[in-house]
This record gives sequence, C-alpha cells and structure tokens, in this order.
Amino acid sequence: MNIRDYRNALGSFPTGVTIVTAFDADHQPWGLTANSFTSVSLQPPVISVCVAKSGRVFPTLSGSNHFAVNILSADQQALALHFASDVENRFTDTNWIKGNAAPILPGASAHLHCVTHDRVDAGDHEILLGRVTSYTHAPVPPLVYCRGNFFAASH
Ligand SMILES: Cc1cc2nc3c(=O)[nH]c(=O)nc-3n(C[C@H](O)[C@H](O)[C@H](O)COP(=O)(O)O)c2cc1C
Repeated sequence: MNIRDYRNALGSFPTGVTIVTAFDADHQPWGLTANSFTSVSLQPPVISVCVAKSGRVFPTLSGSNHFAVNILSADQQALALHFASDVENRFTDTNWIKGNAAPILPGASAHLHCVTHDRVDAGDHEILLGRVTSYTHAPVPPLVYCRGNFFAASH
C-alpha cells in the first residue's frame, strides 16, 4: 500500500479538530492536535482518540489518568498548527488554564474532562478511551479539517 495515497484517501473524511492535553508527573502541560477524536458511548459517556506512539506527547498521555479534549473553534486554526508543530514547549506562548486535572485551552467550542477508561494497542497508534466526567460548550462555529485544509463550520 502506498502510504501517501492511503492518507489522501483517509483525508476525504472531514473531521473536527481537537487538542488533547494532559499533565505529566511533574505537572508540566503537554498536548497535541488530533482529529481522530470520536464519541464512543453515551451511557456511560466514553470518547476515544488515537495517539501516535512515536510522538513526544505519547508517554504523558499514555501514562496519565486524566486528560482533556479541547474541541477547537473556527478561529483556532493557528492553535491547531501550533500543537502539531515541533516547537519545544507548545504552552509557552499559549493562553491556557489549569482545569480540573488537565490543561484547558480557552476559546474552544467544547471542553471534555476525562478520566482514562482504557488504552488499546492499535499498530503505530494507541486508542485512548476516556470517561467524560464534565464538559463545557459554547455556541461558536467549530473548526473542520478535510484533505489537509481547515474550514470554518457555518454554525
Ligand atoms: C489536523 C491534524 C490532525 C492530527 N491528528 C492526529 C491524531 O489524531 N493523532 C496523532 O497522534 N497525531 C495527529 N496529528 C499529528 C500531531 O499533531 C503531530 O504529529 C504532533 O507534532 C505530535 O506531537 P508530539 O510529537 O509532540 O507528540 C494531527 C495533526 C494535524 C495537523
């Protein structure tokens, strides 16, 4: 299989864009841009996100008992690119707050606070399942990603 071509095929599926965040054992904030977010179960409320094992954030996300999913709003495209870049510390020039047990990014269209429910090995990624313990949302248009481009949802 040609990986580039396969990724182009997957890119035909439009998604929202999230930044998944957690604190490490020294209470330092970590986070990465992820569009693999999915709602899995409503009762109980469980969500999933797939995290590359090769990434710098992986040890923190995989080792933490709590994480947060920040569902980005249409005007947070720069933040999506920042949290997918290789800058040393993504939080240094970012407006963030401590949240309950994970870093929170103000201005997102929704925030989900999660307790880690399970971790499933899946090839070069790990499926992180989170039990949602609380959430917020705001009536702002979300950010959309498709075929390598960002779009603003109209509602
Ligand atoms: C729109 C978008 C969606 C992404 N989705 C994911 C994802 O679901 N899982 C993942 O592991 N990486 C995803 N990435 C890539 C990571 O954000 C990127 O590789 C990041 O640099 C990883 O950070 P780290 O090396 O500090 O862990 C995505 C990138 C973009 C721009």
